[in-house]
Amino acid sequence: MKKSALVLLLFYLLAACTSAPGDKSQVKPTTVPTGPLRQLAQQRGLLVGTSVVYQPLRRDATYAATLAREFDVITPENVMKFDATEPFPDTYTFGQADTLVQFAQAHQMQVHGHNLVWHQALPDWITQGTFTRDQLMTVLKNHVQSVVSHYKDQVNMWDVVNEGVNEDGSLRQSIWERIIGSKYIDLAFQWAHEANPRAHLFYNDYDAEGMGVKSDAVYKLLKGMVERGIPIYGVGLQMHISIDRPPVPSDVIANMQRLAALGLKVQVTEMDVQIEIQADPRSLTERLEFQAQTYSAILRSCLAVKGCESFTMWGFTDRYTWIPQAVGHPDQPLIFDENYRPKPAYKALVQTLAP
Ligand code: XIL
Repeated sequence: MKKSALVLLLFYLLAACTSAPGDKSQVKPTTVPTGPLRQLAQQRGLLVGTSVVYQPLRRDATYAATLAREFDVITPENVMKFDATEPFPDTYTFGQADTLVQFAQAHQMQVHGHNLVWHQALPDWITQGTFTRDQLMTVLKNHVQSVVSHYKDQVNMWDVVNEGVNEDGSLRQSIWERIIGSKYIDLAFQWAHEANPRAHLFYNDYDAEGMGVKSDAVYKLLKGMVERGIPIYGVGLQMHISIDRPPVPSDVIANMQRLAALGLKVQVTEMDVQIEIQADPRSLTERLEFQAQTYSAILRSCLAVKGCESFTMWGFTDRYTWIPQAVGHPDQPLIFDENYRPKPAYKALVQTLAP
């Protein structure tokens, strides 16, 4: 640019900045927020999180950069589960989980520990072993307390029991329930609390988001725990849903409110929204738009309930979602596409959080 042109440009810029107040010719720029999510969520007093998979964090710089920019809580997707942390009796391996925790600390993120007691992701020595009730109680107590103690200073939230209730509302017949009995749930919370009395302890489950047989059963279970004085802090509603019959927002709000009325905090812990529904007549554009509205409706439900403190998704990029493996066909359930471009769902969350 020529020097004279530069001077002229500077002159105009200066004039634009110093124009008299009330000068209607100056249109005030409207600032439309574009993100990042964590900044907008903080202004609303909400945590926004995602699950994290280990390999991409090491190998995919865009994955790590997007994660650090957008979220203020991470949930390790697999590396804190039983088979990863205690693959052999009394032999603990925390290396991969430690890497995730260090990443979180380096980026001022919290860690939501997932999970201590579940019927899946169990090592062979548990599933194929033979245990008396006392032996299995010792195994579980040691596991819970070793994992919670290892992260005593770094992890303040734990999914203590994951998916303990069946779809019909009965207690799941996991190895824990069969051998220890239904008391395993109370015990696990008590053991975790002994190991770290400051930690926020959660019961976490799926298909218990709206109103129905399962969410009634989860409510009853947690009410009993609160009445017995079990140290439970909150409940995680996983929110693995699809655009085919998503939960009704007013039901989600009502369910969150009755849980909050027990004195529990509520979190959305694992949201993803499937769109590859068999024989759905809608175009991809329409389905992506409906997906965006579904994300937004659940976020608004959480914002509407005083005790809802966190909104976490089960991943953020379609590149690494667990859904195709789980359902057996491709899908795009998350808020960034495979190339980290924000999808309509991302923009809908930004708009919902905007002041
Ligand atoms: C899933 C992971 O995303 C997969 O990578 C793994 O193969 C199986 O587990 N509910 C939960 C999560 O609580 O732990 C599950 O995570 C998804 C359903």
